[in-house]
Amino acid sequence: MSQDTPKVPSVLFVCLGNICRSPTAEAVFRQKARQAGLEVNIDSAGTHGYHIGNPPDKRSQAAGEAKGYDFSGLACRKVAPEDFEQFDYILAMDHSNLKNLKKVSEPLHHDKLHLFLSFADTGHEEVPDPYYGGRKGFELVLELIEKASDGLIKTIKQQQ
Ligand code: 4NP
Repeated sequence: MSQDTPKVPSVLFVCLGNICRSPTAEAVFRQKARQAGLEVNIDSAGTHGYHIGNPPDKRSQAAGEAKGYDFSGLACRKVAPEDFEQFDYILAMDHSNLKNLKKVSEPLHHDKLHLFLSFADTGHEEVPDPYYGGRKGFELVLELIEKASDGLIKTIKQQQ
């Protein structure tokens, strides 16, 4: 890569299980970035490995697909040590995820760690865990993620 080729920015979305919130963020942000003409590497992972290899939760897929987002090819994985080297933005869905990420990473990488909703003005700090709730919870997750994705795209574009 020549020195004046800009590096493609990279974003990792993180929740607890990597089957509800962070894969939804991956699907939504992928589509919105494409529509905005933003080249970006995108992935998602969980702080825990309860569901490794599984596709996103059917309820997350139903909420997202109803609004035209594509969840195909997504499979749950756990956050890995090399993620902290590789990604520019590591975005936690809630305070507990953020605390766990801080605990397992070197201080030199802590400036990459943020709450995802810090990129939008939604009146919420966290994307609430919808796993044990009903359909409305999954719809709220989607709405918050759509707003934060728009904010993140704006931030990344401003930095380029
Ligand atoms: P997520 O939701 O962190 O948004 O993927 C959850 C998924 C699974 C569990 C908890 C939260 N679980 O306890 O298995």
